[in-house]
Amino acid sequence: MTADHVTRRERLAAEAAEERLTAVVVAPSPDLVYLTGYGPMPLERLTALVIPPDGDAVLVVPELERQLALDSPAGQTLDGHQVVGWRNGEDPYAILASILPREGRVAIGDRMWASHVLALQRTAPAISFEPASEIIGRLRAVKDPDELGALRRAARGADETFRQICSLRFLGRREEEVAEDIARLLVEHGHARADFTIVASGPNSASPHHEPSGRTILPRDVVVLDFGGELAGYFSDTTRTVVVGEAPAGFEEVYRLVQEAQDAAVKAVRPGVAAQEVDRAARRIIDGAGYGERFFHRTGHGIGLEVHEPPYIIEGSETVLTPGMTFSVEPGVYVAGRFGVRIEDIVAVTADGVERLNRSTRELQIVD
Ligand code: CO
Repeated sequence: MTADHVTRRERLAAEAAEERLTAVVVAPSPDLVYLTGYGPMPLERLTALVIPPDGDAVLVVPELERQLALDSPAGQTLDGHQVVGWRNGEDPYAILASILPREGRVAIGDRMWASHVLALQRTAPAISFEPASEIIGRLRAVKDPDELGALRRAARGADETFRQICSLRFLGRREEEVAEDIARLLVEHGHARADFTIVASGPNSASPHHEPSGRTILPRDVVVLDFGGELAGYFSDTTRTVVVGEAPAGFEEVYRLVQEAQDAAVKAVRPGVAAQEVDRAARRIIDGAGYGERFFHRTGHGIGLEVHEPPYIIEGSETVLTPGMTFSVEPGVYVAGRFGVRIEDIVAVTADGVERLNRSTRELQIVD
């Protein structure tokens, strides 16, 4: 992938200038990967990228990782003098502060550890610090064609995983065993690794973030499968709800309701619409059927270098949908003690509407 890190940094610098920030500081995180291609582990040793509104970005790293940084994709767009190593005995926060203006507003990436932020605050008391999530989140929310390609490939791998898991046995196996199969299939279908594999059977399906357990799957169980993983740095995330043999009483009605709500929400996606309108489209249908209280989570979340990132599809979000935004549409209805239903696809906002990245069937699948 040939991400244009320079363009991304230029855009961020322009936004920072617009917001009258004196700098943006980012620690090891998806933000740093997005802006440089460098993705070290966050550690107690300070690594931080400084983006000034004008001038060159500077990456401060522990001296022992300087070569690693230069050999990473960051080395292709940052000159040697832009990668500053600090040695044992030196104060990395003093070095970082010396690159920053003495005062003014500095935005800090969400994932910078409190230990680093607090030390920097002590070292540069005249600077007022604020979160950079707004400004970086806005940029990351709109994907370029390469990013869309990776998300499409990840979605396809997840779809194929669902297709194959439906032909494997559920009845009499533990949730954990089905979850292991899903993880294996995700990797077989192009993912570098599985990130989460929710298998929630029977009454567990009424708990949206249930962890796969030792529960044995029984006849007439509803099973919610919500899984995803990472492919070329980008994530998949899809949910389907299946039933083992004959459906329990009242289930099919709820399934159709969620299916209809999901369709309506996807149809509401187009450029110029506020994110909350997509949430409302799903909720209107579920509320109308009297199940409003049982749909107690937001309709969706952005996805990209992280499984959850802006834009969030929730009441109150006036974020205007823009071509290139990618997010989940995943309404659900949960009947405590009995069953839950959730259907989730990743969609992309196109120039004139919406593209579903997940294409696996949303018709109810009966499994063995
Ligand atoms: Co999701």
